Amino acid sequence: MRVCTIIGARPQFIKAAVVSQELAQAGIEEVLIHTGQHYDPEMSRVFFDQLGLREPDVNLGVGSGSHAIQTGRMMVDIERFVADTGPYDWMVVYGDTNSTIAGALVAAKAGISQAHVEAGLRSFNRKMPEEINRIVTDSLAELLFAPTDLAVQHLTREGVEGQIVLSGDVMLDSTRHFLPKARGEYPARQLLPSDVRQYILATVHRAENTDSVERFDGILEAFAAVPLPVVFPMHPRTRAVLGDRKLPANVRAIAPVGYLEMLSLVSSADVVVTDSGGLQKEAHWIGTPCVTLRAETEWTETLAGGWNQLADADPVRIREAIALVPDRSRERTSFGDPAGRPASRIIAETLAAGRTSS
Ligand code: UD1
Ligand code: UDP
Repeated sequence: MRVCTIIGARPQFIKAAVVSQELAQAGIEEVLIHTGQHYDPEMSRVFFDQLGLREPDVNLGVGSGSHAIQTGRMMVDIERFVADTGPYDWMVVYGDTNSTIAGALVAAKAGISQAHVEAGLRSFNRKMPEEINRIVTDSLAELLFAPTDLAVQHLTREGVEGQIVLSGDVMLDSTRHFLPKARGEYPARQLLPSDVRQYILATVHRAENTDSVERFDGILEAFAAVPLPVVFPMHPRTRAVLGDRKLPANVRAIAPVGYLEMLSLVSSADVVVTDSGGLQKEAHWIGTPCVTLRAETEWTETLAGGWNQLADADPVRIREAIALVPDRSRERTSFGDPAGRPASRIIAETLAAGRTSS
């Protein structure tokens, strides 16, 4: 059994790390292709070091570019690499980035069976590049590993051809596994400026927020008006958009942090304010209230009980949502663990069994 895994962006290193270990334990040979979509050390290297993800067999070094340039380059290089190193029983792709869709399209045309981890997520907003990537990838996959019941429902309604497996969420496996280490080795007080005790943890990187001056300004206006310091590990895309502009005095921009630092910062924050998909989930699992800087979320399970609130990029709604976050004693819906077993193991076992619908 030989599996070829495609990764390239920050959240994919995190998702693949737990599955990769299970594949190794199941005796499955895995060839790891890093597309090079993310390349700064704090966007890539740090995750290999912290999560024990082994070195990729190849880094295609594709880097940044328009959607077509980036995806096209990835496809050309992935196609060549798999032709030179195949045959493969499976290609495994993760999430909804351009690295995902590039792998999915190559696998479909090269006749390699394809498995999609984190299948069935939908925002129902086709202006998001990620939504296009998900729909296309799910329509091509032979095996669809859905993290939640809702994801299964979306796939069933769309009538996808592949086999749907309710696996649970590999990011939950990862959070459970790494949170104790994160808290122990990277206590938040050591990561924060010495005058910061209580804080809001913020991340912003979605194209809809960074590429619209109005939305980005609305978010910064809200940050300026909150009564706490805002610790803001800044994605390079956001840093580029900010340019020379000055941030409000209470906003403490820092470089992107490693995964362990991030889990620790989430854990000690009063509130997480973000447009990240992964962070909404981590905040929920850890028990830190979240305000989401979008009009919709794929992770609607997090909204129950006000644990996550949608505030879009509206300064008034963002401030109000932060003021309204629930008391930590309020009940929280659990999600991402429908099988009561590590999702990464379910995925490895299914791949090893070679099951598909065809
Ligand atoms: C990508 C994914 C998004 C995911 C995010 C995770 C797509 C379409 N988007 O968005 O779904 O949530 O990754 O973080 O695939 N840059 C650097 N250094 C890097 C990487 C990026 O400077 O190591 C800068 C470049 O200016 C680049 C910009 O960030 O143009 C955007 O990077 P890109 O990979 O295209 O998209 P993300 O916004 O990171
Ligand atoms: N993350 C991190 N350091 C940061 C910001 C995010 O380790 O500075 C982690 C975060 O904890 C989560 C993942 O990266 O596990 C989410 O990635 P991102 O927000 O870039 O993408 P998304 O989940 O929105 O696709």
